[in-house]
Amino acid sequence: MGKRINVALLGLGTVGSGVYKVMKNQLPEMPHKLNAELVITKILVRHPERYQESVEDPSVLTTDFQEILEDPSISIVVEVIGGIEPACTYIMQALKAGKNVVTANKDLMAVKGGELLELADENGRELRFEASVAGGIPIISPLKDSLAANEITEIIGIVNGTTNFILSKMTDEGVDYKPALAEATDLGYAEADPTADVEGYDAGRKLAIMASIAFHSRVTFDDVYTEGITGITAKDIAYAKTLGWVIKLLAVARNTGDGIEARVHPMLIPQQHPLSTVAGSYNAVFVHGDAVGDVMFYGRGAGEMPTASAVMGDVFSVARHTVYETKGSTKDNVYRKIPIKTIDEIRSRYFLRMEVEDKPGVLATIASIFGNNSVSIEQVIQKSKVGDDAELVIITSKVRERHIKDALLILGSASVVRRVATMIRVY
Ligand code: HSE
Repeated sequence: MGKRINVALLGLGTVGSGVYKVMKNQLPEMPHKLNAELVITKILVRHPERYQESVEDPSVLTTDFQEILEDPSISIVVEVIGGIEPACTYIMQALKAGKNVVTANKDLMAVKGGELLELADENGRELRFEASVAGGIPIISPLKDSLAANEITEIIGIVNGTTNFILSKMTDEGVDYKPALAEATDLGYAEADPTADVEGYDAGRKLAIMASIAFHSRVTFDDVYTEGITGITAKDIAYAKTLGWVIKLLAVARNTGDGIEARVHPMLIPQQHPLSTVAGSYNAVFVHGDAVGDVMFYGRGAGEMPTASAVMGDVFSVARHTVYETKGSTKDNVYRKIPIKTIDEIRSRYFLRMEVEDKPGVLATIASIFGNNSVSIEQVIQKSKVGDDAELVIITSKVRERHIKDALLILGSASVVRRVATMIRVY
């Protein structure tokens, strides 16, 4: 049967229950896969009375983290509580006590990942976090290991299932944001408070974690520009469709040579781009490396069993290192200090929808405002009317964001412009 490795689970929510199930399902395979048997000997929960039926042996349930910390037989701690505290303190204490840690905690890794990985290394222990980004999709290990010999220049991801579900619904059925959000909530995709998803914070955290590994330079959540999907309308999606584009909430990280771009915002992408076909609650991450070229990872970005799959993959890695007495370093190899660009410094094409007075000379006035601010127009569409006003959709050439903002400021005060309804970046 090989070695017995004791594991403590911190949290028995959705992901914790999945980990418990996968652990049980894999029990017969462990002697073959690991030359060891993994046993959950403690589960930290706040209310043990709620979980009496959820586990085979309720005596493993505890409310006291010290019991886990002071148990020398436990060598792997799996943190699936989420949030910053008390998860951060538990992880730090576990590492200092000589335990390996596996976590699914993106909030924590996106702000304190560097510090925690440093601490793991100082203590000769592993801190693994595959499940923190895109649930069941393997992306952390590929970035760290399989693609390690590449100079990675770009990561573009759909890494939030809730918003991808909402935008897919709006695209397929022509409904507006609010009913699409309501359905996402009914189906359990969106949280009661969906702010972190719909404002792009969740995707921003995942992007920070991936970018730090890919570019070998620290990117934290605070460095990521975030803009959500609450302002996207069915009308914008319909215009995008007629032009051959799809609107997605993208997490974009680029190492451009003069700095790192790290941003989450809605974006128009061509219908032919592989990311445009990622529908519903699915996630995908597109990576460009100098040697490998383009690679794309696709799958379930959340949920009980997909996330447990990623957590357990990490647990198996630690178990193998334990059995064969090898030290698997989990350092993220951050050895560069690349400046991070502000959103005003990025260059992009822009989709602008505006309502303007319907009379001769208006287009000329608008064109001259753009021209005076170094913005070149690529395409103009005038399709429908809004009351007595005309609705214009303008696609610009690639331009620095600062110039677009300057132009929009002046347009906003021009008497012929009623309002600029939407500005969406174009891939
Ligand atoms: N709320 C996230 C999503 C899953 O909708 O993708 C957890 O990261």
